[in-house]
Amino acid sequence: MVTTRKVTPVTSEDRVDEPRDDQSGASPSVQAVVLVGGKGTRLRPLTLSAPKPMLPTAGVPFLTHLLSRIREAGITDVILGTSFQAHVFSEYYGDGSKLGLRLRYVTETEPLGTGGGIRNVLDELTADTILVFNGDVLGGTDVREVLNTHEESGADVTMHLVRVSDPRAFGCVPTDETGRVTAFLEKTQDPPTDQINAGTYVFRRSVIEEIPAGRPVSVEREVFPKFLSEGRHVHGHVDHAYWRDMGTPDDFVHGSADLVRGIAPSPALGDRHGESLVHEGAGVAPGAVLIGGTVVGRGAEIGPRARLDGAVIFDGAVIEAGAVVERSIVGFGARVGPRALIRDTVIGDGADIGARCELLRGARVWPGVQLPDNGIRFSTDV
Ligand code: GTP
Repeated sequence: MVTTRKVTPVTSEDRVDEPRDDQSGASPSVQAVVLVGGKGTRLRPLTLSAPKPMLPTAGVPFLTHLLSRIREAGITDVILGTSFQAHVFSEYYGDGSKLGLRLRYVTETEPLGTGGGIRNVLDELTADTILVFNGDVLGGTDVREVLNTHEESGADVTMHLVRVSDPRAFGCVPTDETGRVTAFLEKTQDPPTDQINAGTYVFRRSVIEEIPAGRPVSVEREVFPKFLSEGRHVHGHVDHAYWRDMGTPDDFVHGSADLVRGIAPSPALGDRHGESLVHEGAGVAPGAVLIGGTVVGRGAEIGPRARLDGAVIFDGAVIEAGAVVERSIVGFGARVGPRALIRDTVIGDGADIGARCELLRGARVWPGVQLPDNGIRFSTDV
């Protein structure tokens, strides 16, 4: 049975600094929509019990980093487009006031996709300018700059585009010399540019009205290609800002480490940066080594001579003496036995990994699974 994990409520630590440009008026000129309704299948089994944006990253739910960035840009009116495990968001964030936001929730009973999710919140939209975020993007771009580009170009839609070294796994988006988008190529093997869709958009409200209502719609596969074929003005805001889609274990681990080390900026963390981040109530035994942006959650225990490199240890997990955990996620209350080796692996909540087990290269252990001592190995020297 899949159960829902209890998430620790927002604490004063999660609060963000005062914004540069607050909007305290009754009708804001900009509203933000954050899409958080996906099932996060690529991050299973962690997303069996919590939605992807609520997974802890550097001590707070991932979504808190994004919300604090929105708040930092002076935008306070935020609508979360929820579907999968919708109640987890409202139970944790409530009305958003602890983050300095006015937060509302619109829930799809059946997931409507990224475009359908945007269309579904239309009734809550009163501003002319609507910022839309994929809820799983860790980014460092200046949101105000994206809005400025939108205002200056007068476009129907402005897309944040980021330059990456290998664009093939993403939506590739070429622009002309004026910055206007000329094509939208989802995951092409022969990308004509290194600019990719960064999952942040600015829509004119009237354009959202044109998205078909009441059925699943993909903004990437349907809405943008249609707008381009109709000659609508879709503009690109290109930059080199920090950017990472947190959708896979590999990206989640690296994004978390980048937050801990201050490579990925987050107003939710302030200047708490270093090689590791150990939360209150956690115990780290003498001789344990924590490097590479490792995070140790509340109440977790790290044994003597354990070596954690780029590890994400959720609350209450136990890493026994001499175990090695590299670039891996260890779920809530899971245990890694003495001298086990865990590398590029996801261990589900409450799983129990016996002594000297070896889990490598994309292994995923489902919640509650118990592996006996020496139960899985890649070498023969027990
Ligand atoms: P995977 O199943 O691993 O692909 O993850 P996902 O379900 O989150 O899908 P994807 O990464 O493509 O989604 C990008 C963003 O859009 C995420 O923040 C999702 O939460 C969100 N999203 C995806 N599908 C829906 C949907 O049907 N409704 C809403 N409201 N949001 C969605």
